[in-house]
Amino acid sequence: MRYALISDIHANLPALEAVLTDIATGARADATYHLGDLVGYAPWADEVVALIERAGIPGVAGNYDSTVAAGYKHCGCRYEDPHQEALSHLSYGWTRTHVSRSTRRYLGGLPFRIDLLPDGGHQPGQRVILVHGTPTLNTLYWTEDRSDEFCLKMAGHAGAGAGDVLCFGHTHKPWHREIQGIHFINTGSVGRPKDGDWRAGYVVLEAGGGTARAEFRRVEYDLSRAMAGIRASELPDEFAEHLRTGGLPAATAAP
Ligand SMILES: [Fe+2]
Repeated sequence: MRYALISDIHANLPALEAVLTDIATGARADATYHLGDLVGYAPWADEVVALIERAGIPGVAGNYDSTVAAGYKHCGCRYEDPHQEALSHLSYGWTRTHVSRSTRRYLGGLPFRIDLLPDGGHQPGQRVILVHGTPTLNTLYWTEDRSDEFCLKMAGHAGAGAGDVLCFGHTHKPWHREIQGIHFINTGSVGRPKDGDWRAGYVVLEAGGGTARAEFRRVEYDLSRAMAGIRASELPDEFAEHLRTGGLPAATAAP
């Protein structure tokens, strides 16, 4: 089975549209799932949710989705400094007040986790587990530099063993590690990458028969449309700049 896994779209409709086109034309995926954080940081929250629903893409709740749905006091995001914290609160406040009732209902109904069995559930076999952050909390950041011990502890929480695949997003930086036969795959971010590459990122996972292969794909999208949409909204202009630089001010910026 080839699964297209898309995460952290963050209301970036132009990026989502480009990724869906790439899935349809280049990725040859058998099924598509989202790993949460559909909203926040860009103005197309309702439109992104409507497109995901229209396309029939199932998925799990990100921290942004569950906090907006619950009306929680903040998005559960991590801040590098007080300025970033202030921007993050602006984004969260804007998103909470602008999403429609049906969007909020959709976000609140997302499951925490989805299990896929590429060989079928009629016999013991490989399990592909989808969560947003970690199997315990969708707010916890699972970065590539986490210890083997941390990864195996999370695999234990998820009930994953050798041959299984744990997939998640949340950090907006893609990576793949294999520890004791368990695959750990961070999908990266469609709508707000933080690895210095402005292009939309997602992963195509080929799984089945106990093997797993991750293909990390990057897709160019209409960046100027996304930046103009942010600037035309009451969201901070810094969010447009973040998209252009891929989250790294010193990175090679997009044209
Ligand atoms: Fe996110």
